[in-house]
Parts: sequence; structure tokens; C-alpha cells
Amino acid sequence: MEPFKIKMIEHIQITTKKERIKTLQNCKYNLFNIPSNLVMIDLLTDSGTGAMSDEQWSAIMTGDESYANSKSFENLKKIIHELFNYKFFLPVHQGRAAEAILSSILINKGDLIPSNNHFDTTSANILDRGGTPVNLVADTNIDNSFKGNIDINKLDAFLNNNKERIPYCMVTITNNAGGGQPVSLSNIEDIYNTCKKYNKKLIIDACRFAENSWFIKQREHKYKNWTITNIAKKIFSLSDGATFSAKKDAIVNIGGLLLLNDKDIFENAKNELIIKEGFPTYGGLSGRDINAMAIGLKEGCDEKYLEYRTGQISFLHKKLIDAGIPVISPPGGHAIYIDAGKILPHIPPNQYPAQAFSLECYIEGGIRSVEVGSVMLSFLSPDTNQIIYPKLELVRFAIPRRTYTQSHLLYVIDTIIAVFKRANTIKGIKIIDSPKLLKHFSASFDWIS
Ligand code: F0G
Repeated sequence: MEPFKIKMIEHIQITTKKERIKTLQNCKYNLFNIPSNLVMIDLLTDSGTGAMSDEQWSAIMTGDESYANSKSFENLKKIIHELFNYKFFLPVHQGRAAEAILSSILINKGDLIPSNNHFDTTSANILDRGGTPVNLVADTNIDNSFKGNIDINKLDAFLNNNKERIPYCMVTITNNAGGGQPVSLSNIEDIYNTCKKYNKKLIIDACRFAENSWFIKQREHKYKNWTITNIAKKIFSLSDGATFSAKKDAIVNIGGLLLLNDKDIFENAKNELIIKEGFPTYGGLSGRDINAMAIGLKEGCDEKYLEYRTGQISFLHKKLIDAGIPVISPPGGHAIYIDAGKILPHIPPNQYPAQAFSLECYIEGGIRSVEVGSVMLSFLSPDTNQIIYPKLELVRFAIPRRTYTQSHLLYVIDTIIAVFKRANTIKGIKIIDSPKLLKHFSASFDWIS
């Protein structure tokens, strides 16, 4: 059961299928354009959409809004010291601000940045600096437990062949763009050692470090008696820095961190932060946001909470598998990913099968999901001038933290099954208008008739 009770509610507006068809038309078939009051269950993202606890709301009231060296910053510093293993940190307003600062300092035109899978904002920040994001997630795994792992042989060969063009490597935990799958501690250790062999820094995209640590505890025998905090500390000790969006595992509506060991990089980052975000003890956040983040970091590592959270995802996963729906398995920590490429084999990647499936789920039940396929992840390689398509056409149903109940999930399951049953009637999609980077946020679409 949910290890909390509900103190405050937000009403859901119940809409009809006819209304939703009209809404989609008005919103140019882009689910990001839909007014949130016309969404019944919002599974667009687990980012910034979680429900804060009474302790977090209390901390909001005691936030210290001093410009410099606030009490709130001290609260944050204390918990960061307990959880992370870095010498320096800067608060930023969200994860991509940390990515933008890091990229602007370290990436030059023509550089290559390897990772398991970069998330869209990370890729966009790299591309924006003239670099190329490179994904080296392992294709085959001896077991299924850690499908976010990097292929170490590939990483070694890649570093060996491109030494001069690689300023740093990354690893995303959990691997959001690759199905929310965890990375094992032994893989993180191997990645770190491989980076050291070539004298390269390793930066962790740590958005979902607590969920990843939970999977390590469950699935990597050696760590089964470790606390989540100690596992997290161990992960971070095997790296040189981290970018962090607190909107995920710190269960706040806004916030992020850039964490570093290297003093020179930190000093440069601090200057960038002051120009773009704010003074180094608040970095684009209010004191109350920082207070809520400090408490959320602790709550996000609570084992009872993590058991419930990952349990919700595996419940959803099991019910869909039972209905014969192709879903990425095993379930990850924050979302289920439906393989729309498999459900809609009659729609090729350049007609966006995952976008089509996610639109149908909105029509069917007012559920907002997000395409993680060729709309979000295909890009024009500056290296080859060709469009690189992702391997999978996925639709992600991300579960906000502590927000929806079991019966909401049952409704989601019924809706997805109804769409699945009429898959052969679903049509492909064309892009009418689109920006160059991060197309999915603002492109307009239409059905192919
Ligand atoms: N890295 C990963 C792995 C992410 O999932 C995200 C955000 C970011 C970086 C950027 O963080 O949003 O705070 O700037 N992911 C959200 C999502 C948007 O829906 O998965 P941000």
C-alpha cells in the first residue's frame, strides 16, 4: 500500500472522447500543447510533478531568502555531504542548467561525448556546443538486471580511437532514454576505470540515483545489506562529477545541482552560474526551494518509499505484460515504456509510430504520455550529415512520485489495453512544422491520411 495518506487533493476534470479529439486537433497533435486541465491522468513526466510531503511544505515556510549564504543553503550542504561524495557543488534551477554550464566549459566544436544513452536535454546541450552525443549502451546482457549498462569493450575502443576529441564521458542513472533501466555498480566501476585508463573524467547524470541505488540493492548481491545512502555514496565516489535534476529523486517541483571534484572546473562553473543563474549559494532557486530539496533528497532515499514506488511501476508492467502488450522488461524505476514499433509494424520510424500510439491513448482515456522515439531522439549528425534514428520507438508512461493511486493505475491499464486492441486501425503521423533541436516540445503534427 501507499506509505502515506492524502491531506490535500486536486480535482480531475473528466472529459469525453469527442472533446479530446477536438482538443488534439486544436493542439496540433502535440501532447505538450494540451492545457493540463484537459488531461485526466498526466504521465507526461515524473519530473517536478511529484507530491511534496508535509515536512517539505513546512520547510517551504522556513526558507531563508537571504541573497548570500542562507540557512537553506547550509541545510542543503549538510545533506549533500551525507549523500554525495564530491568536493564542490552548485545549486541550479534544474538539471539542464547544470548540463548547459558543464557543456559550455568543457565542450569544443567536434568533440564527442560517450554515455550509455544521453537524455534529450543532455544531447541538445552537447549539440548546441558543436559536439556529438554518442550512445554506447550494451546491446546484450548476460542477465536482464542492468540493461542501462555501458558496453565496456565498446567504450574502451571508442576512447582509444577518439582520445583527442573526448573531453569527458557520462553515464545516465537510471537510463531514461533507454527504458529507465538501471546501471550496476560494477559497471559504474568499470566505466570509471576505463575513463581513468585514458585520463578522462566521468560525469554522472544522477537524476534518478536513488531509484538506481534501490535496484543495485535488490539485484547486485554484494550490496544487498547496504543502505541506499551508502550505495549512492559509493556510486558518486566512482566519478568526477554529476549533473542532477532534483525534480526527480529529490521530489521537488524545481531544482538541480552541479557537483564537481575538480577545483578549476568548479571555479569556471561558478562564474558561469553567476552570469546565468545567480549567486553560488542559491543558483536560480529561492531559499524555500532549496529547503524543500534538502528534505526531498532524504525522503527520496527512504527504503519503504522506494519499495512502494518501484512496486507501482512493476504492478503496471505486470498487468500490461499479462495483456500481451510489448513493454520494456524488466520494469525500470520511474516509468513503463511501451514498444510502439512492435505494436504498429505498419508504421515506419519516419511516420512516428510512438507519437501515433501516445495520441491514441489521449483520445481513448485522456492520458498524457510522451513519445521517446524518432520525434524526440532522431537527430542530424554533424559528423555524417545523416539522420540518426533511435533503435526503439517507445511511448513512456512516467509515474509522478506519490501522486496517483492504485485505482488511477487500473484506469491507465484499461485505456492502454483498449488502444492496443485496435492497433491495426492506427495511422502514421507527419511533422508539419518543427524546430531543429528538441522537436518534441513544440513541433506540430497531423495524421497521414
Ligand atoms: N537527464 C535525465 C536523465 C533526465 O531524465 C532529465 C529530465 C534531465 C537530464 C534534465 O533535467 O528537466 O531538470 O532540466 N527529464 C525529464 C523527463 C524532463 O521527463 O524525463 P531537467
